Amino acid sequence: MTELNTAAAPLPSQRHLFDIPDGVAFLNCAYISPLPKASLLAGEEGLRRKAQPWSIAPADFFTTSEAVRTLFAALINAEADDIAFAPAVSYGLAQAAHNLPLQKTQSIVTLVEQFPSNIYPWMDLAERTGATFVSVPRPADDDWTSALLAHIDAATGIVAVPHCHWTDGGLIDLEEVAAACRRVGAALCVDGTQSVGALPLDVKRIDPDFLAVAGYKWLLGPYSLGFLYVAPRWQHSRPIEHNWIARRASEDFAGLVNYQHEFQGGARRFDVGERSNFALMPVVEASLELISAWTVPRIAATLRLRTEAIAVRARTQFDIDSVPADRRAGHYLGLRFRGGIPSDLPKQLAANNVHVSVRGQAMRVTPHLWVTDSDVEKLFAALETARR
Ligand SMILES: Cc1ncc(COP(=O)(O)O)c(C=O)c1O
Repeated sequence: MTELNTAAAPLPSQRHLFDIPDGVAFLNCAYISPLPKASLLAGEEGLRRKAQPWSIAPADFFTTSEAVRTLFAALINAEADDIAFAPAVSYGLAQAAHNLPLQKTQSIVTLVEQFPSNIYPWMDLAERTGATFVSVPRPADDDWTSALLAHIDAATGIVAVPHCHWTDGGLIDLEEVAAACRRVGAALCVDGTQSVGALPLDVKRIDPDFLAVAGYKWLLGPYSLGFLYVAPRWQHSRPIEHNWIARRASEDFAGLVNYQHEFQGGARRFDVGERSNFALMPVVEASLELISAWTVPRIAATLRLRTEAIAVRARTQFDIDSVPADRRAGHYLGLRFRGGIPSDLPKQLAANNVHVSVRGQAMRVTPHLWVTDSDVEKLFAALETARR
């Protein structure tokens, strides 16, 4: 199994850094994270700059975005050069699907009930190439890694998976899967949206071909500003769009009419157009600075303790099941009710200011560092009320 740094010391509550009223139990980071106060301030300042554009210098088109590239790269042990900006996972994976070679005799392997942004680009590629689209069924024992490995063979061209399943946190051992991909010559594309920032991931150990991450969940960032890691071996391929800033010497605004064949270095050619984003880029920067200060191993250690305590209590007190701790991403819990989730339960919980979300057969309980013991008490009190 991939080694997770469980030795890291847990962090105390960081609720004071968020604007969350006392009565609100927000256990739904898998849906949308709240913006930290510091990030909100940075965004207000960023937006205000547009009211006085004479304060925006050409150098500003580059400085914050390059700092953010470096911050994100550090989270996954990549180099800044390996990172591109992508507004959505679908955008990042479109870059991957645009460049990965695939024959009609080959297959694309995904997981059943995987998030659609990591499905549709591959369905489309399968349609265009005639390749086979494979959806690995849910394993009865929650061992996604073995189930996935059993579907990787000589015909596999691309494996497109998450680090943990977005419905119930079922963990995929990406190092094992990457090794299997290498053995058969398949590419590995990862959707890290529900893990990067809260679960350690090291691209130097896994060596995925592409890794897309939306910014508004475990990265605590704004909507519509995320990332694409591009392995060095793909950094010379073709982007899906052509933007002036991605070309060589774009720092020289007067010289932009001297069209350039060459791109900026590394993965920058894949940056979405207008990536400088003066309003949102400082928001991402503030959020990533916070995560870097906490460190991902400490976030992971804290959330693991929190979700495991909830899982154990749900099982013993309410007979509610979940993926066993050793097959689940530590930060991510999906509660599975025998006989299905009572249809009005999420509504009843929300009416009590307890916020969770249902995806597939699981009720996701995904706390972060703002969650307190009293939030958890509220969750169980609301479950108790709903049971009556
Ligand atoms: C696993 C996963 N990937 C991606 C996304 C978001 O995709 P996109 O950025 O394409 O909207 C979500 C949102 O819920 C998700 O859960």
